[in-house]
Amino acid sequence: MIQSGLPRRRFLQAGLAATGALAGVGNDTPALAAPSDRGRPRMPLGCAVQRRYLGEADYRAAITSHFDMVVTEDALKWERLRPNPRDFDFADSDAIVDFAKATGLAIRGHALVFHGQVPAWLDRLETRRDAEEDMRRAIATIVGRYRGVIGSWDVVNEFTDDRPEVGSGLRPTVWERLIGPDYIAIALREAAAADPSAQLVLSDYFLEYRDRHYDDRRAVMLRVVRDLLRRGVPVHAVGIQGHLYGDRIVDRPAVTRFVADLKSLGVEVVVTELDIIDQAYPADPDRRDRLAAQQAFELLDAVTEGGGIHSCLTWGVTDKYSWTSWHRPRDDGLPTRPLALDAAYRQKPLMQVLQHFRRRTVPPDRPPVRR
Ligand code: G3I
Repeated sequence: MIQSGLPRRRFLQAGLAATGALAGVGNDTPALAAPSDRGRPRMPLGCAVQRRYLGEADYRAAITSHFDMVVTEDALKWERLRPNPRDFDFADSDAIVDFAKATGLAIRGHALVFHGQVPAWLDRLETRRDAEEDMRRAIATIVGRYRGVIGSWDVVNEFTDDRPEVGSGLRPTVWERLIGPDYIAIALREAAAADPSAQLVLSDYFLEYRDRHYDDRRAVMLRVVRDLLRRGVPVHAVGIQGHLYGDRIVDRPAVTRFVADLKSLGVEVVVTELDIIDQAYPADPDRRDRLAAQQAFELLDAVTEGGGIHSCLTWGVTDKYSWTSWHRPRDDGLPTRPLALDAAYRQKPLMQVLQHFRRRTVPPDRPPVRR
């Protein structure tokens, strides 16, 4: 189902038109935040980066012109990073970190403990002791290497089970199976020990929509965060990934309540992987781009209403290179258009939306992720 009617009107009425943020939507070169905007308090805007494209001048220029921060898209996933249980291959992540340092961008690390894209040898861990020792050593090594440089980490990514209503609601990963639910606390404490000043984030998907299933997922996240805080475990932010399917409805009141609940616990909200999966949208690229911008606005505005967005990162730089073209292609074979810059690096309406929120002040209770 494609959203239209009321949500569309709400999008237009909710401030974008009033702030002038829609001016230029659909043009190639709408007004952008001036470079002098850098340094002012606002919602830092970031993007996921792949090392293999950093050799391309237009890719690099797009990052430095539009974003304040980068996140390692695949470089720190264990499949790439840990060819065997002993060694770490930091070539890809070092290249991204070097680029960010050279260009003054903040850096997020993705992801310390994540069941996706793991090496085959991980399945051969058999005891709690082995799994815990390996996880601790990996976190100490990775966070230690980038101490004082990577300012924010997805410490545990996607821990909610796809049947969140059952049992603990935790995904049965190798760590959950061998260590038990406490693996989350152990991971957070290990990360804090390796870099006490880093922002520690728990990030997950499907925290955005309307339906019982998504209520259950939000409930699991809140339950886990409350329990961790009660035990004095450091957790600074929850990541709402924001892979937004065009045919699902963002549950604005539920998202706002969820964010307000987290903020009342002193926990920030980072939108960690924003993009729009446009499989259900019509073929016309302009219409698709407007619907995508509207869908992102719904989420970002709902988070803002709940107390504010600490920072927001899109899952990629340009439509030219996005995981969606491989993993979420359109039936009609047209290229997907998930991001704020099109395949030729032209700004899309989504960029207007992002810049609108970017210019708002970041919440004063925690500083922005350091550069
Ligand atoms: O770009 C290459 C292409 O040159 C090659 O021909 C093709 C053949 O397989 O692969 C292409 O790369 C694929 C890449 O996606 C495209 O973006 C890789 O094989 C594939 O493994 C890779 O997948 C990654 C995916 O996680 C794995 O599940 C994506 O890079 C990455 O963006 C995606 O990120 C995840 C987050 O880590 C967690 N949240 C969900 C998010 C989206 O799935």
